[in-house]
Amino acid sequence: MVAYDLTHLTQPDHQLVAGPVQDDEALFLYALIRCMRLRRILEIGGADSYGARNFLKAMEPDGMLYTVDVRHTLALQSNHTTIIGSCEALTSRDVGGVPLDLVFFDFHVYAAQMTLFRNLSAEGVIDRNTVLALHDTNLHPPADGPDAPPRQWGSAVEGGWMHQAVERQMVNTLRDEGYDALMLHTTPDRHDSRLPLRHGLTILTLPRRLDIGETAGPSGGSTPTGTGPTG
Ligand SMILES: C[S@@+](CC[C@H](N)C(=O)[O-])C[C@H]1O[C@@H](n2cnc3c(N)ncnc32)[C@H](O)[C@@H]1O
Repeated sequence: MVAYDLTHLTQPDHQLVAGPVQDDEALFLYALIRCMRLRRILEIGGADSYGARNFLKAMEPDGMLYTVDVRHTLALQSNHTTIIGSCEALTSRDVGGVPLDLVFFDFHVYAAQMTLFRNLSAEGVIDRNTVLALHDTNLHPPADGPDAPPRQWGSAVEGGWMHQAVERQMVNTLRDEGYDALMLHTTPDRHDSRLPLRHGLTILTLPRRLDIGETAGPSGGSTPTGTGPTG
């Protein structure tokens, strides 16, 4: 059995945090990095490094994490490069000049994040294999009352409370431009005092048809060799 060390995920059971990813979301990102062996990660918005610690724990030791933030962010270990500045100024040289495996967007300014996306795409370090992850794309439950989740910002929209608009808008834009989206969202009925809200994470990848060689396809189908491994 693989001995996963998740002791860095320390939130209380209700995961009522403002800023970092919630632990369930961190767990998903951890699994994504492990499953796809993502080694080169760019985090936009580092804050107190909760998310960065999770990326570093999930990555192979030869991976590299870049965190850009307008404020100073602590570099946690030798393969964690922190960049102070606004993300729209980032160039491919700042992130090693070779393609990134994952870009994580978490600072809520549309123009700056889209400028970064366009610039790094034009420079080839965001390419068709780069996975994009955007935080805060879910709606919080709409109900008012004593058990209602905190409402520090945002606005009511159909189906819930939109605590952040920017990453939702980015998902819409990038889907219009051809990305596939997996939205890790909840509906209001899935919440109660044990988990009052889910901030929400969306994973975007560019679609790809899977090459199946000379195989006839579902109706004529046999495997190319006839007796391939199953699983
Ligand atoms: C929600 S917090 C990030 C939380 C972090 N990803 C985590 O999981 O712990 C947003 C961060 O974005 C930073 N920020 C604000 N404007 C920025 C900009 N133009 N470029 C980069 N970072 C920015 C803020 O300083 C703040 O630390």
